Amino acid sequence: MLTQRIDVQLEKRSYPIYIGADLVSHFATACQDHGIPTQCVLVTDKHVAPLYARQLLNELQRHGFEPTLIIIPAGEYQKCLRRTNALYTELLERGISRKSVLIALGGGVIGDLVGFVAATYQRGVQLIHVPTTLLAQVDSSIGGKVGINHPLGKNMIGAFYQPRFVWQDVSYLSTLPPRELLCGIGEVVKYGIIRDAELFAFLESHMPSLLRYSREELLYAQSRCARIKAQVVSEDEYEQGVRVILNCGHTLGHALELAGKFKVLKHGEAVLLGLIGESYIAMQLGILDEHSFHRIVELIRSLPLKFKQTNLAMKEVFPAIRRDKKKVGKSVRYVLPQRIGTTVVINDVDDTLVREALRYVFSLFR
Ligand SMILES: NC(=O)c1ccc[n+]([C@@H]2O[C@H](COP(=O)([O-])OP(=O)(O)OC[C@H]3O[C@@H](n4cnc5c(N)ncnc54)[C@H](O)[C@@H]3O)[C@@H](O)[C@H]2O)c1
Ligand SMILES: [Zn+2]
Repeated sequence: MLTQRIDVQLEKRSYPIYIGADLVSHFATACQDHGIPTQCVLVTDKHVAPLYARQLLNELQRHGFEPTLIIIPAGEYQKCLRRTNALYTELLERGISRKSVLIALGGGVIGDLVGFVAATYQRGVQLIHVPTTLLAQVDSSIGGKVGINHPLGKNMIGAFYQPRFVWQDVSYLSTLPPRELLCGIGEVVKYGIIRDAELFAFLESHMPSLLRYSREELLYAQSRCARIKAQVVSEDEYEQGVRVILNCGHTLGHALELAGKFKVLKHGEAVLLGLIGESYIAMQLGILDEHSFHRIVELIRSLPLKFKQTNLAMKEVFPAIRRDKKKVGKSVRYVLPQRIGTTVVINDVDDTLVREALRYVFSLFR
């Protein structure tokens, strides 16, 4: 059941995001409509393959496509140069030509990695994103950022490379582990804060249903977020301007993630904590009113975040802020909520206030 089509408008690189439930039997027709080459390579990971690869392969074969399947291990460590090279080798050995398409079936790791391979293999082959985590659906599959990690930094090697289309099936989320669902919710909350007061109010009243994987509520949240991301990217593909608002909660979030060496907190969890900390800063600076601040804190505190402050040392978090790649020159940029639905960008916040904000966050998770 296709419920929506949202367009990312980038002139020649424009593409649709299809959103719905139980969409698999429409996938090959969509490929035909887009003139996708018959030679296609479905790349996925070990967790997703047994759940969803076969149905997609059958669907493609039934419609005259010639798909092959590549399965790689799961996890962030796969977003590396070694795995990228192994994929190039596999594609070459299987005789995959320039006139082919890579289909990235999985979470953000698969999307970023396969997207990067698609951008570079034989100077670029076509790409379709089939995101299977909430985070990948609302965030990483839209906007064309693809890339891999370097031992010296996350996402340090990459490109902007837009897909032909994005295929978002809410049914995939039914098998998602709860912690991964929560990570996606972290980004959903962010979208409410930066651009969508109505979505935020919806989250305040429907969070229990979302946490129970209710399809209807997930679909609603997914399409609101996809619409925002599509709009923002359409306005600013290369992050020269408005796209920066997507980093709300991420300055402190990245620092918390880094301080825990990516083991204590997952990205979406760190963003949730970052949103509290940055809202605290905004309130103290008189940018955000107290009522909105408390709404943000209450919403995030209602989530089943298993974080315990004892697992992170404050002395590690603070220096990590300056190591964040999003700093401009020597200053550190914060995207702070102004009220629910709008933000302001501030360069540099007084160290004392940042420490106070982090202490406030930690005090909530003792
Ligand atoms: N390109 C961008 O704009 C952008 C934006 C945000 C995040 N990212 C990147 O996304 C990555 C994180 O993505 P993620 O959170 O989706 O993590 P992930 O890709 O690691 O997926 C999380 C886990 O869930 C499993 N999984 C995926 N779909 C499943 C399903 N439907 N059922 C059961 N298990 C499933 C995966 O195998 C994995 O173990 C990071 O590398 C991050 O840098 C990129
Ligand atoms: Zn994020």
